[in-house]
Amino acid sequence: MRYQNTPVVLWSNWRLKTAITKTFISTNMCGIVGYIGNGNVYDILIKGLHRLEYRGYDSAGIALVGNDGNLKVYKAKGKVSNLEDYCKDKSLEAGVGIAHTRWATHGEPSDCNAHPHYSEDGNLALVHNGTIENYKVLKDALIQHGCKFHSETDTEVLVQLIEYIKVKNNCSLVDAVREALNQVVGAYAIAVIEKDHPDTIVAARQSSPLVIGIGDDETFLASDATPFVEYTKDVVYLKDEEIAVIKKGEPLRILNLDNRESTIDVKTLELSISQLEKGGYPHFMLKEIFEQPITLRDCIRGRIIEGGAKINVNGINDNKDIFLNAKRIVIVACGTSWHAALLGKYLIQDMCRIPVEVEYASEFRYSNPVLDDRDVVIAISQSGETADTLAAAMIAKRMGAFVFGISNSVGSSIPRETDSGTYIHVGPEIGVASTKAFTGQVMVLTLLALGIAQLKGTMPQEKIAEIGEEVLRIPDYVEKVLKLNDEIEHLSLIYTYARNFLYLGRGYSYPVALEGALKLKEISYIHAEGYPAAEMKHGPIALIDAEMPSVIIAPNDHLYEKIVSNVQQVKARGGSIIAIVTEGDTEIKNIADHVLEVPAMPECLTPIITSIPLQLLSYYIAINKGKNVDMPRNLAKSVTVE
Ligand code: F6R
Repeated sequence: MRYQNTPVVLWSNWRLKTAITKTFISTNMCGIVGYIGNGNVYDILIKGLHRLEYRGYDSAGIALVGNDGNLKVYKAKGKVSNLEDYCKDKSLEAGVGIAHTRWATHGEPSDCNAHPHYSEDGNLALVHNGTIENYKVLKDALIQHGCKFHSETDTEVLVQLIEYIKVKNNCSLVDAVREALNQVVGAYAIAVIEKDHPDTIVAARQSSPLVIGIGDDETFLASDATPFVEYTKDVVYLKDEEIAVIKKGEPLRILNLDNRESTIDVKTLELSISQLEKGGYPHFMLKEIFEQPITLRDCIRGRIIEGGAKINVNGINDNKDIFLNAKRIVIVACGTSWHAALLGKYLIQDMCRIPVEVEYASEFRYSNPVLDDRDVVIAISQSGETADTLAAAMIAKRMGAFVFGISNSVGSSIPRETDSGTYIHVGPEIGVASTKAFTGQVMVLTLLALGIAQLKGTMPQEKIAEIGEEVLRIPDYVEKVLKLNDEIEHLSLIYTYARNFLYLGRGYSYPVALEGALKLKEISYIHAEGYPAAEMKHGPIALIDAEMPSVIIAPNDHLYEKIVSNVQQVKARGGSIIAIVTEGDTEIKNIADHVLEVPAMPECLTPIITSIPLQLLSYYIAINKGKNVDMPRNLAKSVTVE
C-alpha cells in the first residue's frame, strides 16, 4: 500500500483542478479474473470466480469477446451460481474474457451495479477491485462531456474515462488506460478488454492485489493465484503503478505509469489444486478444522530442532539485535487475528519479559500512536491484505519501528511491505470463518516467544526444551481433540435455538473465549459475548438465567481454582454450562451440564487445543440452523475496506 502525503492535482486536460490530500488508500474487496487463450474461456472464468467467491458474493458478472467480434456482458445479483443460471441460454463462445465477484461498496448489490462495467459505446468492458476515491469529480466532468451513466458505481466512471480518452486522443487501449490511471486517486486492480481487439487484455494495479499466470499459449490474471493453479505455476505479481499488456501469442509486457518497461519477475507457485477443494467434506470450514493436525505440523516444521531444544524461527534469527533490544512490542491485527495477537501478548510477556500492547489495527492507525525505533510492531493478517492492518504496519514503519509481519498468504501486501516476518504455512483458508489460520497464528506466536526467550535467556533452557517437545506433540493432541466431533455434533442440537451465549475464560483461555464467541456469531448469527470470567461479577452476571448458556474454557492451569468458583457463580444463577476441561477433571465435571475433555499440556499451549471444540460447536450450531457456514452473510474473507 502506498503512502501519499502530497496533494494530487492531475486534471490539466480536463480544465478542472482539485486537490485531494490523501493518507492511506483503502481498497474494497471483490475478486477479478481474466483469461486469454485457446481454452474454454467461460468455464475457466466461472471456475475462477468460484475460487474467488471468498472475497465477496454480492453479485457476479462476466464479459466475453467472441470471434464474431461481439462484446457480451452478463451479470447477476448474488452468488456466482446465480450468474451461471443466468448464462445457461446465452452465447458463451469467446477467445478472451474477464469476470468479477463483488463485495458491494459504492451502490447496493444489484444486477446493474454488478461488474463488468462497459463504456457507453459498448466498446470496452472493465472489472475492478478497489475504490476510485475521486470518482465524483471525474463523473461530473464526464457528464459535462456528454457521458451517460447507468450504475451508481465508481467503476463505471473508470471505464467511461478510459473510453473518453481513447476516442479523444485516438490512442491505443493501453495508452488510454495509462492516461486514465494518471487521473485517478484510489485503489485498483483492473482488467479491461476491447471489442475491436479480442487478442488483448490490459490490466493494472494500485494497492489491490493482481497476479498474472503464464501458461503455454494462454495467460491468466486474478486477484490471487487460486483460479489458475491447475493450469500454471508460473506467476508474475504485478506491482503498484504497473500496467500489464497481455496479448495473445506475444510475451507479457509490463509498463509503469510513466510508460517505461518494467522487468518481468516470474515466480513459481507453491500451491496445489487439492488445497483448494473440499476433499470430501461438506464445507471448507469443516475441512479446515480437520486439517489442523497437518497444518500445525507444516507450521512447526523446521522451526523446532534438536528434539525441542532449539527454536529456529528465521525472522527472529535474522534480526537478533532488534528483538534483543526491543523495549516494547505492539501487535496490530483485526478480528480473529486480533485474538491470536492477544494470546501473543500473554506468551511474549510470560516468556520474554518484554511489555506488549495489542491494538485493533483500525483504532491504532488513527490513534496518533507513540512509537520509535526501539519498538517492534507485529502485524498479523491471514490474508496479508486487511486494509487496516496494512495501514497500521505502514504507519509504524514510517515512525521508525521495526515491523514484523505474520501472514498466511505468500506474496500478499503485508509480507511485501513489512521489514521482516514469517509465514504460518497452513495453506489456503477458504472458509470465511478463520480456523486453521488462527491455530497457525497462535503456534507461530508461541514459537516466536520461545525463540526470543531463548535469545534473551529469559527462560531456563530446560523449560524451553520441555515446551518445545510438547509443541512437537501438538498435532497429535489436535487429532485426539478432533475425536470429540460426534459428541460436539450431538451437543450442538441442544443449543441450536439459544438466542445468546456467553464465552468465559481466564488467562490464556480468555482470548480463546473471545474467539469462540466470534466463531459462533459470524456463522450462526447468534449473539455471543466473550468475557474474562472474573469480570462477570462486575455486570454481565446479571444476564445469567436458564436461557443464557455459558461456554467456559477451564483447562487445568494456574487459574483453575479461580475459574471453578466462576463456574459455581454461573450455576448458582441457573445458567447452563458447557465446559472445556482437561482430561481427568473432577471438580468442574460435577458442576457443569456438559464437559468436553482435552489432553493435558503446558498452560501456554492450551489455547491451540481448547479453541478446536469451539470451532466445531459453532460449525454444528450453524449447520443445524441451515446457515451457509462457508459464506456467512455480509462477510468476505479478505477485508480490504476500512
Ligand atoms: C473471523 C475472521 C476475521 C479475520 C479478520 C482479519 O473468522 O476471519 O475476523 O480474522 O478479518 O483478517 P486477516 O487475518 O486476513 O487480516
